[in-house]
Parts: sequence; structure tokens; C-alpha cells
Amino acid sequence: MAEKILIAYYSKTGNTKRAAEEIAKMTGGTLHRIVPQKTYPDSYFATVAVAKWESLKGEKPALADKVEGIGGYDKILVGFPIWWFGCPQLIKTFMESYDFDGKKVYPFCTHGGSGPKNSTRDIKAICPKADVKDCFDATKNLNETAVKEWLEF
Ligand SMILES: Cc1cc2nc3c(=O)[nH]c(=O)nc-3n(C[C@H](O)[C@H](O)[C@H](O)COP(=O)(O)O)c2cc1C
Repeated sequence: MAEKILIAYYSKTGNTKRAAEEIAKMTGGTLHRIVPQKTYPDSYFATVAVAKWESLKGEKPALADKVEGIGGYDKILVGFPIWWFGCPQLIKTFMESYDFDGKKVYPFCTHGGSGPKNSTRDIKAICPKADVKDCFDATKNLNETAVKEWLEF
């Protein structure tokens, strides 16, 4: 039986969305857009300030919706932009909102040059009982060979 793959992603300006859509084409996975209840500012610099503040306060922004039947997926891909050298606080909310114990979790990111930085560590800290793989750098490595190797096909 084919593996069931979930591709959950957050994207503010479209880069991670495009990466998630490419990965969906390559894998046949189901896309789920992670949406915050709050609205981030339009401007890049204002968002940088809001994100810094969220991270300093350890704020966990609320999610606008839920993934149904997450337990039924064999591989859970979680995509996001790198914010302040790690994953956005919203992704931490997402990781805390479901039971990932014993699940295979494949983080992936887009970024502006820093690479995945602390994002694998951030996610492992939230779900220590999940099998969290190293964060895939979709800005640098988005091709079918690299994606299939990352996803252990
Ligand atoms: C709040 C904020 C913080 C960011 N921090 C970093 C960073 O630490 N390293 C980096 O390379 N890019 C950083 N960026 C750039 C984004 O990671 C990059 O533009 C990403 O591809 C945006 O993805 P999106 O279009 O899916 O929102 C930051 C952008 C924002 C808005």
C-alpha cells in the first residue's frame, strides 16, 4: 500500500508554499496550509520585529484550523520559512497541537541565506518521542533526487 504523506506548511510570502507544492507533485502528498489566527504585518521589517518579540516571550500564536486524521499519515512533512535562525513560533504551536510520538517527522525550510540553522533542534525539543529528521533545505536542494533521498524513498 502506498505511504500516506502529509505536507503541512506555513508560508508568509509564498516561497515555502511553492516548495511545498513542488514536493506535493514529487510525492503525491496531501497539502495542508498552516494558518495563524493573528495577522502578521505586510512589511518585512515589521514582521521581523513581531517575530523577534514572539520568540523572546515564547509566545505560541494560535492556529486558525486543524488537520483531520493526522495519526493516519505515515510521514509528516512540516515546512516553514526560517525566522530568526529557527522555526517560527507558529510552527512550535503546530508541533504542540498533535501527538507525534513514534511518528516520522520531516521538517523542511526556505530561507534568505542562513540555511536551516536551529530548526531541527527547535522541533526535536517539542516532540522528543517523534522520529524527527534533519531539516531539509528547500531553498538550496529542491530537486527530485534530493527530495526522494531525504524522504527515504
Ligand atoms: C521574521 C523573519 C525572520 C527571518 N529570519 C531569517 C533568518 O534568520 N535567516 C534567513 O536566512 N532568512 C530569514 N528570513 C527570510 C525568510 O526565511 C525567507 O524569505 C523565506 O523564504 C520566506 O518564506 P515564505 O515566503 O514562505 O514566507 C526571515 C524572514 C522574516 C519575515
